[in-house]
Amino acid sequence: MFSYVFMKILEMKPTTYDRHMDRASRSHVLEAKRAIVKEVTPGSYVLDVGCGTGDLARMMIERTCIVDGFDMNPAMVMAAGERIKTEHLEGKFSARQRGVEGMDGIATETYDAIVSTLVFSELNDDEKCFALQQAQRILRPEGIIIIADEVVPQTWCRRILHSIIRLPLFAITYVIATNATNPLADLAGEMTRAGFTIEKEVRSHGGHSPWSWAGKRRR
Ligand SMILES: C[S@@+](CC[C@H](N)C(=O)[O-])C[C@H]1O[C@@H](n2cnc3c(N)ncnc32)[C@H](O)[C@@H]1O
Repeated sequence: MFSYVFMKILEMKPTTYDRHMDRASRSHVLEAKRAIVKEVTPGSYVLDVGCGTGDLARMMIERTCIVDGFDMNPAMVMAAGERIKTEHLEGKFSARQRGVEGMDGIATETYDAIVSTLVFSELNDDEKCFALQQAQRILRPEGIIIIADEVVPQTWCRRILHSIIRLPLFAITYVIATNATNPLADLAGEMTRAGFTIEKEVRSHGGHSPWSWAGKRRR
């Protein structure tokens, strides 16, 4: 849980974000990314919402995908640009600076897949709703969307414990980063309301970890 709560602090230094996140999450995040990549058909045209430094994009490209990414943080986009140069990903990965509110500028039925890791917990309700509606529009028929993020635990007992531990960490993060994340309470419901059919929902580590991911296709 600590890595997810402190995420906004780790994001303040994009050049070390991936390494520190991987360490802090004891590779849970990396494992989830690997699982996501396996769900995407090789050769797909993919949009990475909130792409960060392009860590997931790089893994998708190894599966012969072409990836467009966007992120609202200019420093993250710059780090992604560095990656493109140093790893020679030109023509396979593009990263641009924009927020989810700019998704309405993307042409209808453009992508085979949309992925997003650890971004939805940073969006407010309106942004989540808008991003999902736009995702529905810009995905090709039978396209897939996969979202992975911290979620609220399922049982009341765990929820209470989770809140008690999380609250002081949330406060520390807010003081340092002037921002903090919120675990998702009803990702499946939000996706269903946007018109997606849930094909798979996974809570990693036997449901003990609040980290989960869900794969859903268009109706
Ligand atoms: C925790 S990082 C995850 C980065 C990347 N997805 C990964 O898993 O490696 C969350 C990213 O979401 C981006 N983000 C947050 N809110 C956003 C928004 N409204 N529009 C676009 N990007 C956003 C942040 O700038 C940050 O780079």
